[in-house]
Amino acid sequence: VTAVLAGRDAVVTGASRGIGLAIARALARAGARVALIARSAQTLTARAAELGGNALPVVCDLTDPAAVTRAAQGITDAFGHPPDILVNNAGTFGPRPIQAITPELFAETVRVNLIAPFLLVHAFLPAMRARGHGHIVTIGSIADRIAYPENGAYAASKFGLRGLHEVMRTELRGTGIRTTLVSPGPTETDIWASVQESGMRRFPTRTEMLHPEAVADAVLYAVTQPEAVNIDELRLSRA
Ligand SMILES: NC(=O)c1ccc[n+]([C@@H]2O[C@H](COP(=O)([O-])OP(=O)(O)OC[C@H]3O[C@@H](n4cnc5c(N)ncnc54)[C@H](OP(=O)(O)O)[C@@H]3O)[C@@H](O)[C@H]2O)c1
Repeated sequence: VTAVLAGRDAVVTGASRGIGLAIARALARAGARVALIARSAQTLTARAAELGGNALPVVCDLTDPAAVTRAAQGITDAFGHPPDILVNNAGTFGPRPIQAITPELFAETVRVNLIAPFLLVHAFLPAMRARGHGHIVTIGSIADRIAYPENGAYAASKFGLRGLHEVMRTELRGTGIRTTLVSPGPTETDIWASVQESGMRRFPTRTEMLHPEAVADAVLYAVTQPEAVNIDELRLSRA
């Protein structure tokens, strides 16, 4: 494997497990230095250690705006500049019929899936613009376009997140900052373990699910294109 991302610095949110961990591993394997963000300090430190000296664990609850600002500042200080690659991946999923979505669950879903990506973009964008360089990768979902029952909170957050990505695409074209939306179908991660209590009528089966590494490969593809090429959107589903 050639170190195509040697000298590049990346941030991956939700990097303690699942798709985010697979993305962090793929970027590190390609030579990037990676800041991994999640809440669980122990797991995060252990996973970062496995990636070797080029990984930086950053413990942060992304629902806390002040903590997000501090994390972004700490990462900029550690790297000496804003990240070359920001992957907004952290997400939460708690499917329920609309009458069973508590206002708190709705707000929490929007905070993690939509507001946190905005806050990180907001924190890093001025310095990225000044530098004329960067790549913002947004992890959407098949449900950022398609309406499924029991998915009110998640759909509201992911349709909104896709909207944010599409507006960034228009605002940042020609600035040297690239933007990519990667939208996977059901993927085999722990996110499905937390769905057991939900009102969801039918769970996707394992054979309907992508592996997290497939999503990581899509991210790697987007961020390793020549500078003049922007991959606007990649949508993945199990063949
Ligand atoms: N799995 C799927 O079927 C699927 C399909 C389409 C899209 N996606 C999207 O892919 C992304 C990753 O999903 P996944 O399946 O890998 O989920 P996962 O296995 O549940 O992992 C979620 C990650 O986000 C972190 N996280 C959650 N809340 C956080 C918070 N408040 N602050 C900081 N970190 C937080 C978790 O770490 P801590 O708990 O340690 O904080 C964990 O690292 C999400 O945006 C999800 O919507 C998933």
